[in-house]
Amino acid sequence: MNYDIKDINLAAKGKLRIEWAEMQMPVLRLIKARFEKEKPLAGIRLSACLHVTTETANLMRTLQAGGADLALCASNPLSTQDDVAASLVKDYEIPVFAIKGEDNDTYYKHLDAGLDHMPQVTMDDGADVISTIHAKRPEQAAGVLGGTEETTTGVIRLRSMARDNVLKYPVVAVNDAMTKHLFDNRYGTGQSTLDGILRATNVLLAGKTLVVCGYGWCGRGLAMRAEGAGANVIIIEVDPLKGLEATMDGYRVMPIADAAKIGDIFITVTGDLNVIRGEHFAVMKDGAIFCNSGHFDAEIEISALKEMAKSTRTIRDFTDEYVMADGRRLYLLGEGRLINLAAAEGHPASVMDMSFANQALAAEYIVKNAASLENTVYPMPDDLDQQVARLKLDAMGIRIDTLTPEQEEYLNSWKMGT
Ligand code: ADE
Repeated sequence: MNYDIKDINLAAKGKLRIEWAEMQMPVLRLIKARFEKEKPLAGIRLSACLHVTTETANLMRTLQAGGADLALCASNPLSTQDDVAASLVKDYEIPVFAIKGEDNDTYYKHLDAGLDHMPQVTMDDGADVISTIHAKRPEQAAGVLGGTEETTTGVIRLRSMARDNVLKYPVVAVNDAMTKHLFDNRYGTGQSTLDGILRATNVLLAGKTLVVCGYGWCGRGLAMRAEGAGANVIIIEVDPLKGLEATMDGYRVMPIADAAKIGDIFITVTGDLNVIRGEHFAVMKDGAIFCNSGHFDAEIEISALKEMAKSTRTIRDFTDEYVMADGRRLYLLGEGRLINLAAAEGHPASVMDMSFANQALAAEYIVKNAASLENTVYPMPDDLDQQVARLKLDAMGIRIDTLTPEQEEYLNSWKMGT
């Protein structure tokens, strides 16, 4: 078997950690048990480009139980858990191409290795596989039944491809499932981003002015959790509705140019470019800390920071100090890459349970419905989304109520009024 990982001897530790995560993934376990019996992915070549974590390992085991023939590469150069990669290779015989800290060339070499598997289904987190097929290996698209996409940034890229009529195969936007973004983006990012910041810095959050750039689901979760830890939260937004929502949620809202002068900790979760730039580094306080939790490392203008610095050193793991000409010290975490996956372990398994249940069901849906799907972006089918929510509630031992026949009739009728 072909693979490229850091060290196969790390497998034993990875295997235990994969088992630990599985404990917290009851919905995926149920799907895995059904897949074992029904084999809905029998013989299907599937290439996944995801963060190589314990949670992803459990998704891979589920797809494998369904009969899929897998290859896995990393969706980010810094997010791979090398022990997990080793266990997937050694214990589960899944070819993995991923090494934590790999350079850009290796990252793309690994992506190519995943594509050499000639997938019939692709699974993306950030649309790098689909982009590579379209840009560099277009002849492969004809053999792909469909793909899935995990994240907001990827879905934005794919919708723009569909709008321009260049998308060469159907894609299911897993991110848009309610049981994905309402939980993973909000509670997952909220907790794991702070976890990454704390592991990298060990700073006290209480009393800090913490600036969240972007008030999408990730920003909302992050603001909520930071406030809970005692930080004074400032929100940066460009969308008037979200700016208003943040204001009424009780946060201060202002432009980044104003926040730059008063923030202690800055986090970008916008999905856009150069949100924190040279002009902002120029006015930040001595000791200011900043990091990114959006998909790409484009949200902080690191090139400007490097140009402005008179010296640089790594002061702790994942914490780089940049000393400005006037002596102020600024701290960039995780090289501007996803801080929750670079310095911590990503979202906890319990929330990835729902995201990856959606991924497994989306792969099954693509294989079942390939003949009728068009080359566009599909939402996650509503019944599958509801199914994931019900299974998660069941697993948590929570019962919801049911409508009485009278209530049902009332909701379905337009005849009853005052
Ligand atoms: N994205 C965010 N957290 C993740 C995790 N734990 N595993 C895979 N992808 C993730």
